Amino acid sequence: MTPARTLWLDERSRVLTLDQTRLPFEQVTIELDSLASCRYAISAMQVRGAPLIGAVGAYGLAFGLRHDASDEALQHDFEDLLASRPTAVNLRWALQRVADRVRPLPSTARAAAAWHEAGAICEEDVACNRAIGSHLATLLRAQAQRRDGARTGALDVLTHCNAGRLATIAYGTALAPFYLLDEIGFPVHVWVDETRPRNQGASLTAWELGQAGVAHTVIADNAGGLLMMQGRVDAVIVGCDRVAANGDVANKVGTYLKALAARAHGIPFYVACPSSTIDRSSADAAAIEIEARDARELSHVRGRLADGSSAEVQVIPDGSAAFNPAFDLTPAALVTALVTEHGPIPATSAAIAALFAEH
Ligand code: MRU
Repeated sequence: MTPARTLWLDERSRVLTLDQTRLPFEQVTIELDSLASCRYAISAMQVRGAPLIGAVGAYGLAFGLRHDASDEALQHDFEDLLASRPTAVNLRWALQRVADRVRPLPSTARAAAAWHEAGAICEEDVACNRAIGSHLATLLRAQAQRRDGARTGALDVLTHCNAGRLATIAYGTALAPFYLLDEIGFPVHVWVDETRPRNQGASLTAWELGQAGVAHTVIADNAGGLLMMQGRVDAVIVGCDRVAANGDVANKVGTYLKALAARAHGIPFYVACPSSTIDRSSADAAAIEIEARDARELSHVRGRLADGSSAEVQVIPDGSAAFNPAFDLTPAALVTALVTEHGPIPATSAAIAALFAEH
């Protein structure tokens, strides 16, 4: 099945998306109608996931140019939107792409060109994700053949955070193979890490897999090691927010520990990686800024009460300090392959350089 789009235009060309802070219990559609609303949606995580914040940033720049299309305003709006979240490089990539497209144009033509470019970024995202999903599906089917005889039944794949359709325009990256395998009736079951502190796994990945009818089970973040030790994980697939020129990967905090456990147990660890997420200006992991988010995300948890209303409760004692880095860094050596829209490549400087030389 083709998952529904996460960002779409209605018949009046309004830009609509789901407010992801309200999922999984409420499906609330919000309109993005200005640069300020795009910037707010990104920073408040109404939209999140590297490709989706890139697309929303692109529309934000287009809205800004409708208001003022001068060079100065373009630069100001670019920096304003870029500051909304620092780690995922797709935001900078998309803003740069729109800015490069409109800068040579007269100011009267800039807003329309930016709007068109934002639309193109969205369309390309769907095709890119479908290609990544198809490459990952091929890898998973090969994995299933290798284990047949040793163990039968659905292939068990563990994922962390949400790199699904909610993190992109459609399909997602790490979750794309599950939708494609589902289309052909290939049995797969997904272990979904809850992904504290914001629970993107428990609330978003579980929701979208459930909507699509893909078999899945939510597990506590720390259960993955045991399941790998027990032979109950055939592969790990995660997304990424930025991949450095040497193949080091920044992704949701907790990814690194899964990569270590996967390596210890000889389990393939795949990173679903649109080429737009590769940042060749970051030489290695040390160059990647890790977003530190509000400690309240850690000290408090939001959920649904028995009467159906939602509430936030405190889970750490008054007075305890809390530190909340939103991402972590996985060394390239722990990555089995970066699975790009052009196919899987080793997580090495040479393979990344070759990818950009070819495409
Ligand atoms: O903080 P988030 O929810 O934006 O983090 C999302 C992730 O870490 C995803 O794995 C990543 O952006 C890849 S999305 C295809």
